Amino acid sequence: MGDNKLETILECMHLNKDQLKSVKDRLHIEMMKGLGKASHANARVKMYPTYVRSTPDGTERGDFLALDLGGSNFRVLYIKIGEKVEQFSEVYKLTKELMEGTGEKLFDYIAECLANFIGKQGLKDRALPLGFTFSFPCQQKGLASATLTMWTKGFKASGVEGKDVCVLLYEAVKRRGDILLDVIAVVNDTTGTLMSCAHAFPDCVVGLILGTGTNACYIEKLENVETWDGDTDPPKQVLINMEWGAFGDDGVLDDLRTEYDESIDKKTHNVGKQKFEKMISGMYLGELVRQILVKLAENHVLFDGKTTEALRNSWKFETANLSQIEGDTSPDYKVCRKLMKDHGLEITDQGCKIVKAVCAAVSSRAAQLAAAGIAAVACQVGKSDVTCGVDGSLYRKHPRFHDIMTATIKQLAPGVNVKFVLSEDGSGKGAALVAAVAHTLKSKTKAE
Ligand code: GLC
Repeated sequence: MGDNKLETILECMHLNKDQLKSVKDRLHIEMMKGLGKASHANARVKMYPTYVRSTPDGTERGDFLALDLGGSNFRVLYIKIGEKVEQFSEVYKLTKELMEGTGEKLFDYIAECLANFIGKQGLKDRALPLGFTFSFPCQQKGLASATLTMWTKGFKASGVEGKDVCVLLYEAVKRRGDILLDVIAVVNDTTGTLMSCAHAFPDCVVGLILGTGTNACYIEKLENVETWDGDTDPPKQVLINMEWGAFGDDGVLDDLRTEYDESIDKKTHNVGKQKFEKMISGMYLGELVRQILVKLAENHVLFDGKTTEALRNSWKFETANLSQIEGDTSPDYKVCRKLMKDHGLEITDQGCKIVKAVCAAVSSRAAQLAAAGIAAVACQVGKSDVTCGVDGSLYRKHPRFHDIMTATIKQLAPGVNVKFVLSEDGSGKGAALVAAVAHTLKSKTKAE
């Protein structure tokens, strides 16, 4: 029944403990390169200082706006931080045309959605402090200055790379001339996640995203950040946006990458970039599974050797499907059977078992790699208990991601107890909290 062929084909997805330990060590080396003054320019894991110096202490108060750009939708939020946090939000569709057109059109659209939202919320005459969650790699010069180094996750709007996205937003708002804008901070989603978790769990020191893309941030001691050019007042720490998705872009993971990883990379807008991300995140796992299914069919392990156009269609198998297939415990594989039918394929019970094994191989590798990453970060943090805020559809929806990560971290960092806590809307509330912390600090400084 082709079990040997199946094993042979899936073998390349399997990573053993030594390999994972080596991934952890290699990432740690890359992290040091990113933080080092002399090595930073050539480092792939950029370790960008965010200029966020402290987590919320619970005294933050006020009304804020937040924008959230970085996934398949764009959101605008109105957040009232008091004893409790209240929020009102609206989701606006992001079309492929906007993601791939001109930057001017993209930012005009963002300004248009913002104007529409503040009109609806009756906030037109108030220049509320705004946190802009912009979840792409940015070199920051301050809290409210962030230059996009390169698009990731399928975006390629022209004329944005190399520009300060905060300036682009002000320009778009100026072109409209009908709203007031006060951007206090540009925030990565990992930073937002850490901040939002730290609001509920003050000992949270790491933020992790496992969604369309993947990335992590953590609190680093200023003395370890050789690239730091800001003030050195206490607290002597800064949140570091790692941009770990780019880990491996110089080839350091090539021995672990497979023909499927190679082939996915070639089909993206950012060939040769974000190699770690492409092995882990939601944008890519479905496509990895699809390619392996095609290979299995070609080797007569599945579908009696047949493929359909639907199955040969790139990107049509979604990562959400993996979660559904792996989460289905019905004895007759209802979910898998239905999904294959949608792809024009009839499948036997044994076939469903194989599809499930393929999904499990791909998602396990992803979870183990992410865990190796977190193990490296936890060791750098240097505490025996590390709380990590986490968000993203992959982590939320996948039935085993959390468990696999936890088990792998135990193996790779036995002395460290890593606790994952789900973030409550890091990209919205987190951005507002960054703005709030900055605001509180400003007023405290004024009062002194
Ligand atoms: C991509 C982006 C990064 C973001 C991550 C998760 O890796 O470059 O900035 O944090 O996706 O959304």
